[in-house]
This record gives sequence, C-alpha cells and structure tokens, in this order.
Amino acid sequence: MRPLQALGTSVAATVTLLAATGAFAMVLQRHAASQSHEQPPYAWPPGLAGVPIPTRVTQGRTLFVKSCAHCHGLDATGDEGPDLHGLWVSDRRIAAVIKRGIKGEMPSFAKKHDDRQVAELVAYVRSLE
Ligand code: HEC
Repeated sequence: MRPLQALGTSVAATVTLLAATGAFAMVLQRHAASQSHEQPPYAWPPGLAGVPIPTRVTQGRTLFVKSCAHCHGLDATGDEGPDLHGLWVSDRRIAAVIKRGIKGEMPSFAKKHDDRQVAELVAYVRSLE
C-alpha cells in the first residue's frame, strides 16, 4: 500500500469509528433522558404490570388520535403543538405535562384520562424515535 493510500484508509476508518461512537452516545443519552435523575421516578400504574409494551403503545396511540392528534398531528410530527418524536425528557415529565397541561398552550387531561390511560400515552410518546 502506498503511503497516501494508507493515509486515506486510516482517515476513513477513523471517520467510521467516530460516527459509530456518536450514534452509540446518542442512544445512551436518549436512554438516560428517559430514565433521568428526577425523583421519584415515574411509577407505572399497577394495572399495566402484565401488559406488554407493544400493547401499551397501541392503546396509547388510539388515545392519542382522539385527544392529541388535532394539535400534535396524526403521526405526532407536530402541527399547532410540537413534534413529539425523540423527546429528551423523562417519562415522568411527559406524564406530568399530559396531566397538568401547559398554561395557555395545552389543556390538562387529568379529568379526561385516568392514570392507566396517561401511562399508555406515555408509552406511545416514548415509542416515537
Ligand atoms: C390544544 C392543543 C394541544 C392538545 C390537545 C395537546 N397538546 Fe401537547 N402541546 C401543545 C403545545 C402548544 C405544546 C408546546 C407548549 C410549549 O412548548 O410551551 C405541547 C407540548 C406537549 C409536550 C411537551 C413536549 C416537550 O418537548 O416537552 C408533550 C409531551 C405533549 N404536548 C403531549 C401531548 C399529549 C400526549 C396530548 C394528548 C393527551 C397532547 N399533548 C394534547 C398543544 C396541545
């Protein structure tokens, strides 16, 4: 291998390595954001204990279409409300926003949806990569 070729190869290898490291770091950060340091951590309602994640997500999506889609878009990519894909906030924070709403921006859903439904909505929002 000529020196210039060798240099090219090592540069390419370094770039690939950096990209892979970056992607991995993003995955880790997302994971950390979903857990977060907030205390107490989000407590999933006991009623959902035996329900597999994909089922929670599907149920959450049905609720989302009824309650949230007119502001956040049918596929949650945003409309009047923001895109909800890849949020860098904790599960607990998402649940709190749904329950309390955001003054002047988003209504409270505490009366409309019980804890289990809120948790299903959290599962759906969390599934949006
Ligand atoms: C009336 C329109 C409206 C409805 C209905 C609505 N939202 Fe929102 N939502 C907003 C707006 C506007 C914001 C952004 C407010 C801001 O940034 O200050 C927001 C913010 C959020 C956020 C916070 C995003 C972040 O980056 O922290 C979440 C999570 C969310 N909405 C979820 C939902 C879910 C789930 C529902 C249905 C149960 C819903 N919203 C219904 C308008 C709405």
